Amino acid sequence: MNDTLYGYYRQQDVLPTVGHFQGEADLVAHEEHRRRLFTDKLKLPPQLFRGARLLEFGPDAGENSLVFALWGADCTLAEPHEKAHATIRSYFARFQQDARLQQLRPEDVLQFPAPLTEAERFDVVDAEGFIYTILPTRLWLDKCAQLTRTGGFLVIFYCEAYGSFMELMLKVVHARYRELTCLAPQPAAEKLFQTKWDSIPHKRRMESWTMDVLVNPFVRLKYFLEPRTLCDAADAAGWSLYSSWPHYADTLDVHWFKRTLPAETLARLRADYVERSRLSQIFGRKHFLARTEPESESALGELLTLTDGLIDCYEATNAELCVQHLARLEKLLQSDAVLADAADRDASLQTVRSYQRLFPILSAGNAHAIAEFCSTDAGFIRSWGMPSHFAVFQKTASLGPA
Ligand SMILES: C[S@@+](CC[C@H](N)C(=O)[O-])C[C@H]1O[C@@H](n2cnc3c(N)ncnc32)[C@H](O)[C@@H]1O
Repeated sequence: MNDTLYGYYRQQDVLPTVGHFQGEADLVAHEEHRRRLFTDKLKLPPQLFRGARLLEFGPDAGENSLVFALWGADCTLAEPHEKAHATIRSYFARFQQDARLQQLRPEDVLQFPAPLTEAERFDVVDAEGFIYTILPTRLWLDKCAQLTRTGGFLVIFYCEAYGSFMELMLKVVHARYRELTCLAPQPAAEKLFQTKWDSIPHKRRMESWTMDVLVNPFVRLKYFLEPRTLCDAADAAGWSLYSSWPHYADTLDVHWFKRTLPAETLARLRADYVERSRLSQIFGRKHFLARTEPESESALGELLTLTDGLIDCYEATNAELCVQHLARLEKLLQSDAVLADAADRDASLQTVRSYQRLFPILSAGNAHAIAEFCSTDAGFIRSWGMPSHFAVFQKTASLGPA
């Protein structure tokens, strides 16, 4: 079971995302957050869920599922980590939504039974927080297409490669510090990141984050998805991009409303837009490139690969290469090739310079100095990146009779 994310969760004492709702007010606040996200960013307002047949894979404790139920969806939940089932059932009972829970099943995505008829297919398939760990990508795109009605939606929330750069940095720091101190994951995380963690509000506890990000073997470059490749693979599997956060479709394109662009043109515009958004995704703020930059595109890819490699084995020579890439990134950020507001540019430069100072401290191997830096450096404390993206695909192609 070490090759699945839920196998990893089965070995843990805590559920990865449980928010421990205490009462009605917590659910109301969560519903409000999801309503804004789904309406404003994903263009799927709650009305669309009324009476919908919804299949949610990997609901964990079921807090998002409760909101789908409140919106009137008939929910089928598939959660292979069976320790979560009791929490899901008790949430649905406590908030009087049992009637909306059609089925709670133990299959994972690939094991889920294929529908026999179109009526058995779903209007919405939702898979948040894990689907990127199933490789190759085409497997789950095809499986979800099999499960969704034509015109239906697939909602995914996943780890994106460039947006996860800072997540990889945190993993490097954590691994290096543990190597030097022999501390267990949680006390090491507290020594390094307590100040950072406390600097922003969180629904989940730090121990969940340690388990779900810092030591999670699936939060690695090998699993992260890149939006251009993802959207191309989705096109090939009979989906079309409906919405995403951040945007992948070229929102700067303008043309007459009666014109419909061919799929190939849309894909080309999307690829260009995504590539020019790399820095926005790394830093989680607007840094649009005035033009595509093949050299910086490959340099950023190299920076990701080197950083990811330092998690397994910290080598000062590779750390030095990262510093050189950061110097190039600093220069790019200062140039007019990046369209950005002044405050955003300054904030990202602060992060880059902070990492430039951090690598030599990591290489020097003084654990106390590492912890001191992480607890006091303002640039490090305020940098979080944008590791998680949402994408919604609509099923365009009919599979014919099931
Ligand atoms: C990080 S949690 C996310 C929970 C919730 N969807 C959210 O976004 O808050 C991932 C969940 O997906 C489940 N999971 C992992 N691999 C899965 C798979 N292949 N099929 C279905 N569920 C899976 C895990 O057991 C866990 O409950």
